[in-house]
Amino acid sequence: MNEKATAEGLHQVKASWSPYARLPQSWRSRLRKWWDRLGLNRDVASRLRYEGDMMLLRSRCALSRSYSLEINRLAGRRHLRLHLGCGQALLPGWINMDCYPPTPVQGTEILMLDMRRRWPLADGSASALFSEHFLEHLPFETVRGHVLREIYRVLEPEGQVRIGVPDGEYFVEQYVASKRGAAEALYEQACQGKSPMVMLNEIAHGHGHYFVYDFETMRQILEEAGFTGVRRMSPGSTDAEVFKGMDRKDPWRRAMTLYVEAVRP
Ligand SMILES: C[S@@+](CC[C@H](N)C(=O)[O-])C[C@H]1O[C@@H](n2cnc3c(N)ncnc32)[C@H](O)[C@@H]1O
Repeated sequence: MNEKATAEGLHQVKASWSPYARLPQSWRSRLRKWWDRLGLNRDVASRLRYEGDMMLLRSRCALSRSYSLEINRLAGRRHLRLHLGCGQALLPGWINMDCYPPTPVQGTEILMLDMRRRWPLADGSASALFSEHFLEHLPFETVRGHVLREIYRVLEPEGQVRIGVPDGEYFVEQYVASKRGAAEALYEQACQGKSPMVMLNEIAHGHGHYFVYDFETMRQILEEAGFTGVRRMSPGSTDAEVFKGMDRKDPWRRAMTLYVEAVRP
């Protein structure tokens, strides 16, 4: 996202359509002061704001004529390549899906939606789906019971999926290694003086995260949703032409991301 996650809240988006994001800074700090005076937790405010935005988004989509025209056009297309939870990373040649998408850039396509609801795409209309650092932003049961099923539904037979999420196992391993003074330099650097236990908690529940995955869990839920050929991939490596060059390149991202590919039979 284009703003660092802070104690101020979840799903931080500086330049989004969210009414809160459009309030002047002075209003936002006044609101925060009132909220604090009521003795309420900032996380609650953040989640309320997010749910309010999602309600607004769904009503706007339901009422907007241009949105329904766009959806009708999309519904008629096949062999789509879908980029889930794109954030600021707009990929040309892909349908970039997000609830807070950035301003479209020429040559890129955006689909604004709340992915916790049914996606306005036809069954079997996509040949590939890529998602990086998105699924951890939704509750585990939403991913397991809804999102993976939607991915399965919209993929065509032999359609491929590549998912990248923070690797829980990596953080646990580095936590243990740090006790022996043997954690990786990149991890130490990312800790920026925070204790490894704080890092563990942050990766599970900070930055708007709900859940941290390991390969075993990801494989289990992908297979449960019907996918086959589930395999762990190294960052930057893939068997599928369509995913070549897709992973983010910065070394810390690569060290801490679990990439998994699977096929819709
Ligand atoms: C950490 S960002 C990932 C951005 C990008 N993929 C990356 O790797 O930098 C997570 C994204 O999930 C999006 N998101 C969160 N909840 C969502 C929802 N219910 N529907 C659609 N997108 C959602 C947020 O707007 C945000 O852009």
